Amino acid sequence: MRRTMVAGNWKMHGTRASVAELINGLRHLALPGDVDVAVFPPFLHVGQVVDGLKGQSIQVGAQNCAVEPAQGALTGEIAPSQLVDAGCAYVLVGHSERRQLMGESDQMLNRKFAAAQACGLIPVLCIGETLEQRESGKTLEVVSRQLGSIIEELGVGAFAKAVIAYEPVWAIGTGLTATPQQAQDVHAAIRAQLAAENSEVAQGVRLLYGGSVKAANAVELFGMPDIDGGLIGGASLNADEFGAICRAAGN
Ligand code: PGA
Repeated sequence: MRRTMVAGNWKMHGTRASVAELINGLRHLALPGDVDVAVFPPFLHVGQVVDGLKGQSIQVGAQNCAVEPAQGALTGEIAPSQLVDAGCAYVLVGHSERRQLMGESDQMLNRKFAAAQACGLIPVLCIGETLEQRESGKTLEVVSRQLGSIIEELGVGAFAKAVIAYEPVWAIGTGLTATPQQAQDVHAAIRAQLAAENSEVAQGVRLLYGGSVKAANAVELFGMPDIDGGLIGGASLNADEFGAICRAAGN
């Protein structure tokens, strides 16, 4: 059985003071034992969060990493090896805000994914279609290309130590959520694409749904057979709401 996972993507939010408050809230949560919980603060606050959550069952990840695993002359970037040193276990790769606003290409993301794994970080590959692509019937084509890029470059075995987050761009930060059935349909297609190469990898990989998940819609979404948890943006900035979403992912 796949363990469910709930990941909180804090995006570009937080000050030292607000992060301290959020850490305090997280420390007081009663979290289910059968769910992997992780938070993804901005780079600046990774150290503060790792220290603040010491002894808790919540893991820490970063929102991005450099295309090369090792430290070196690359101004403004953070190497996956530095993230490991700082206490990170995970890293987001290819969040739609980075694909769209920072121009990250599939080729660049292949390198980030490989660099992360080379250091033992678990990449959380984010994929998903825009509203225009959904409306023109291209959802599965887009998602399959984004996923296929990693499979072609690194082999399907790369997903034995990775997580995938399906995040329809039109549902991110908009309050619009994919219906559980819409999300399930895409998740099933993602798993089928992996299964065509390797059924063991396909059955083992966690597929998270992201896009306006809240405590109020989490139970229904997480109840779908191929949805193994969620990647939570806005709602992860409130410890109590995030805790309720984590509990919704428990059995
Ligand atoms: P949201 O963001 O929950 O605020 O829609 C999800 C994400 O971008 O990961």
